[in-house]
Amino acid sequence: MSRARSLDTPAEEPAALVEAQAREVLRAYERIAPVYDLLDGVYEWSWKRRLRAELFAHALPGRLLDVGVGTGCNMPFYPKGSEVVGIDASPAMLARARARAERLGRPVELQRMNLLALAFPDATFDTVVATFVLLCLPDELQLPALRELARVTRPGGRILLLDYHRSSRTAVRWWMRLLSAWLRWAFAARFDPTTEQHLAEAGLRTLVHAHRMGDGVTLLVLQPAAPQPRP
Ligand SMILES: C[S@@+](CC[C@H](N)C(=O)[O-])C[C@H]1O[C@@H](n2cnc3c(N)ncnc32)[C@H](O)[C@@H]1O
Repeated sequence: MSRARSLDTPAEEPAALVEAQAREVLRAYERIAPVYDLLDGVYEWSWKRRLRAELFAHALPGRLLDVGVGTGCNMPFYPKGSEVVGIDASPAMLARARARAERLGRPVELQRMNLLALAFPDATFDTVVATFVLLCLPDELQLPALRELARVTRPGGRILLLDYHRSSRTAVRWWMRLLSAWLRWAFAARFDPTTEQHLAEAGLRTLVHAHRMGDGVTLLVLQPAAPQPRP
C-alpha cells in the first residue's frame, strides 16, 4: 500500500528532533548557499568528484532521487536517460541547483522537502542517492532517515551513500577535531554520523561498504530487501 506523507508531519519520528534539525539546516544553508560551491571547491575538485563518479557507477537505470541535492554537485554524474528528482530542505540551495541544472541542460525536478518525510509513495525510485547529507542528522534520526530512504526505493533498487566517517588515523582525527566546530556552524554537519550502525535494523542489505580518503569517508551501496513496514 502506498504511504505518501505530508511534508511537515512525519508520523512516527520524534517530532521535536525533526523540527530542530530542519531549523538548524535551514539556518545554516540559507546563509551558506551563495558561497557553498566556493568554500567546497577545493574538496570537490581534489577528491569529491572522483568519489561521486565511483558511487554513481552503482546507480540503476530509471527513476533516481537525489536526497539533499544541495547545489547539485551530483548532477554531472546522473546516469544518462534517468528521470531525476532532487529534494532539499533549503530554498537557497535549491535555487542554485536549479541554476546548475539549467547550465548543464539537465532536466531535474527539484522540490523542497524534508528527507525524513518524503512525499513519495513506497517503492517510487530505482536509485536513491544521499551524498554528505546524513551527516546533518543526529544519532536519533539516522534510523528514521534510512527507513524513509528504504521506503521510497523499490525492492531490488539501490541506495547510494557517501559521508564522512570518524577516522581511526590519528592525523585525520586531529584534522577532523580541528574543523568540527566550523563544520557544525557552517554546514550543520558532523564528521562522525552513525549511519553505519543502523543498516541492518533499517532492513538494508549491504552490497558495497568501502572507506576512502584513508578511512575519512564511507561509500555505501545498499539494497532494501522488501518494502519497509512501519516500525
Ligand atoms: C553538505 S550539503 C550536501 C549537498 C550535496 N548532496 C552534495 O553532495 O554536495 C547537505 C545538504 O543536505 C540538506 N539537508 C540536510 N538535512 C536535510 C533534511 N532533513 N531534509 C532535506 N534536506 C536536508 C541541506 O539543506 C544541504 O543542502
